[in-house]
Amino acid sequence: VSLGVAHFSPALIHMASSGKKRELLVLYGSQTGTAQDVAERIEREGRRRRFHVQIYALDEYDKSGLINTPVCVFVCATTGQGDPPDNMKQFWRFLLRRNLPADSLLHLQTAVVGLGDSSYLKFNFIAKKLYRRLGQLGASFLLPPVYGDDQHDLGPDAVIDPWLVDLWTKLDTLYPLPPGLSVLPYKERLPSRFNINAYSAPVSNTALKPPSQAMPALLLDNSRLTPSSHFQDVRLITLEGSFPHYSPGDVLMIVPENTSESVERFLQVTEMTHLADLSLNITSNEEGISVPQRLSSPCTLRTLLRCYWDIQSVPRRSFFEILSWFAMNELEKEKLEEFVTPEGQEELYSYCNRPRRTIIEVLIDFPLTATKIPVSYLLDLLPVLQPRAFSIASSATTNPQHVQILVAVVEYKTKLFHPRKGVCTTWLASLDPCREQHYLSVWLSKGTFSFPSSGHIIMIGPGTGCAPFRSFINEKSSSSVVPGQPCHLMLFFGCRSERADYFFRSEWESLAASNKLLIFTAFSRDQEMKVYVQDKIKEQKELVWDWLERHNAYVFIAGSAKRMPIDVIDALKELITECSNHKLDAEEYIKSMEAHKRLQLETWA
Ligand code: 2AM
Repeated sequence: VSLGVAHFSPALIHMASSGKKRELLVLYGSQTGTAQDVAERIEREGRRRRFHVQIYALDEYDKSGLINTPVCVFVCATTGQGDPPDNMKQFWRFLLRRNLPADSLLHLQTAVVGLGDSSYLKFNFIAKKLYRRLGQLGASFLLPPVYGDDQHDLGPDAVIDPWLVDLWTKLDTLYPLPPGLSVLPYKERLPSRFNINAYSAPVSNTALKPPSQAMPALLLDNSRLTPSSHFQDVRLITLEGSFPHYSPGDVLMIVPENTSESVERFLQVTEMTHLADLSLNITSNEEGISVPQRLSSPCTLRTLLRCYWDIQSVPRRSFFEILSWFAMNELEKEKLEEFVTPEGQEELYSYCNRPRRTIIEVLIDFPLTATKIPVSYLLDLLPVLQPRAFSIASSATTNPQHVQILVAVVEYKTKLFHPRKGVCTTWLASLDPCREQHYLSVWLSKGTFSFPSSGHIIMIGPGTGCAPFRSFINEKSSSSVVPGQPCHLMLFFGCRSERADYFFRSEWESLAASNKLLIFTAFSRDQEMKVYVQDKIKEQKELVWDWLERHNAYVFIAGSAKRMPIDVIDALKELITECSNHKLDAEEYIKSMEAHKRLQLETWA
């Protein structure tokens, strides 16, 4: 055993020197798939180094196994306002339990990789807290934690890559390769994790199993709220189902599908059209890896391409790593391999991430390799379509069987010829309930907002940010209001133009007329100078201050504009300083509001 391991526990040194337990556990909490991708890269590299690697989403892992695990790498994202991803929520609750003995993880060597976005207030909050908690429980660390940042020019890998080099150096020292084994070269293909066999047997039901928590909801209505001349297509979508009771602030999770046009393009470029409608039998190729629950009954390639794989997403680095295994053409091979190296990251970014090039478009650019992909590797190669969260815009008190969401169809230009389109919103907008019955796979989930049952509430929601407030306002105003009682609800709504995108105008106006709502509107483009919600807040500073100071009002901010929450908070700070005659420290005031949940944010990209 080399000197480098002198500070590790004697038990581990024993295991390393006796060549036993070259086991590596990788656990991840991932919301959008980035953390999962990093975890899978660690898994592949571990396999190359001949470790016995197991990988799980945290909530799929049997926690008691940690007791006997020598080495575990945690890869965790932070979502929303410092929340854990959905697939680690149970684990998180367990880990934070007060009654866990302080030495429960004394035997565990661990390392923490965090993924976050420094434009949010609580950057990498979950990974930081996880690191502290593991330390409290007695775990020791192979390395200090690393915190990847979406805002970095080269993405989170810019700091994670060098950290991984250090991780493998540590692990190699701790667990030297047993004699006779060598590390598999980086460019060599690993065995696929699954076997996929195609049979010509007819498939009676081509539908894919929905996610276990999903239920079907019938699309009742899909109305465009903005005129066709408006730059943005915004839909009010109504779904009908046996929904469990939901509350204002809850979100609807929807698993999107790819358009048939994308599916056809994928089949063509990979020359897999002849396999598209055959029955597939998927089995695991490796001990410890089971076939995903949704793929456990026969289905077809066409169904998987439509409902399971995210073929319209921007490919991650591991996509290029795996694709390069099949390249025979020298030019294509060289380029693909370059994209995987640390030196190639700048170029990969300008080729893929900056212009938001999709997996299908990349395959079209590498046609000779695309046709060489074996079907069995598709599960290694392609990411899985992730559910999207939409703030619920309706109230269960109005109709418990209906859920409404307000959806802005995402479309934007990059340097590429074709505009970029959001997968889920484009698909939703394409569904026409008058032509066909559409059942969507959906489930309800807690959002980040938690509204108080009483008190004064100030809501700031430009654009589709008004959705959760419509739910809350509808719920509040449906309960009986005593005539003459002062109004407790204040809404700042902003949009481009009074005529084009003033959503729910008649509803807000009639509530305002019956004194159930105070509404202030900012139409940014109806005059020469831009007017935003924060300008209206400043105009109403005395009233806002009165609600904050005298009535302990709650403030909720929701919306998609990137700078909007920061600008609104700045406006609040300005009025706090001014209205308190400079007696109060606005920064502290806002911090304290946040700590007491009197200031809550829900923002989306
Ligand atoms: P704009 O598009 O005219 O700039 C909903 O999207 C509304 O939010 C639009 O009126 C939009 O204005 C406005 N908006 C854009 N950036 C904002 C910001 N930083 N703060 C507040 N509102 C903003």
